[in-house]
Amino acid sequence: MNSRDDIADCLELMQKLIEYRYQKALHHQLMKAADHSMLHPDVLVLIYHMAKVSEGGILEIGSFLGGSTIAAGLGVRDSGKQKKFISIELGGQLKDHRLATKNIFRDLERNLARAGLRDAVTLINGSSFEEKTIAAVREATTRGEIGLFISDADSNVRRDIDSYGDRFADRCWVVIDDYVSATDKGGPTRVQVDELVAAGRLRTIGFYGWGTWVGRWLLHVAMFFLPAQIAWNQWFMVPV
Ligand SMILES: C[S@@+](CC[C@H](N)C(=O)[O-])C[C@H]1O[C@@H](n2cnc3c(N)ncnc32)[C@H](O)[C@@H]1O
Repeated sequence: MNSRDDIADCLELMQKLIEYRYQKALHHQLMKAADHSMLHPDVLVLIYHMAKVSEGGILEIGSFLGGSTIAAGLGVRDSGKQKKFISIELGGQLKDHRLATKNIFRDLERNLARAGLRDAVTLINGSSFEEKTIAAVREATTRGEIGLFISDADSNVRRDIDSYGDRFADRCWVVIDDYVSATDKGGPTRVQVDELVAAGRLRTIGFYGWGTWVGRWLLHVAMFFLPAQIAWNQWFMVPV
């Protein structure tokens, strides 16, 4: 992988985004998913594309009412392949919002069923950092199996990468929302993503919608570079 490949990745994503807009039936389905999504429609289109072309399984954290989950599910459907797809959602309620709901998880299941995708996704109703959630995901997946990771939960993507990162394949697509945000999730997310980019674990491909970061996970660099970096930091008492 070199900077030429990175540029090819960036340009391909931009081009795909436009091409899908002209596929009327598909675009209509994605816009219906956007009706109950907090993500920008462009990000849903990209998630659809990555779910379609990525090798391996999909792990999502923060499905909410299913906008991004449906986009990924449609991508899997159109890949013509069986793909493991796990989505973790805490549940609860949301007040004073255009997407207000008394029961997030119930509405998520209902929206997936309406899209004909209820059986395409394994939903976990819990927090991504609960022990039982981590154990369930680890049991259901093998090392390096995940080809697309979607993080749209709270402001601690690093914690979730620490829990599930060994499940990511080399060059796994990664979508992280709130890199730029009007909410207080933005600051910590940006710091964490920038640190992982600086450490050579993530590579940036673009920024879309209202501030979603898109890129890739770099396994070989993470394996060889990180231990040396951690040792260096510990030796010189740099906080990690
Ligand atoms: C911004 S919304 C997700 C939006 C969704 N991706 C979409 O397309 O509309 C964040 C969701 O993450 C859930 N959540 C927050 N922290 C979580 C965690 N640690 N584990 C699982 N779900 C979490 C919240 O309940 C909420 O439904």
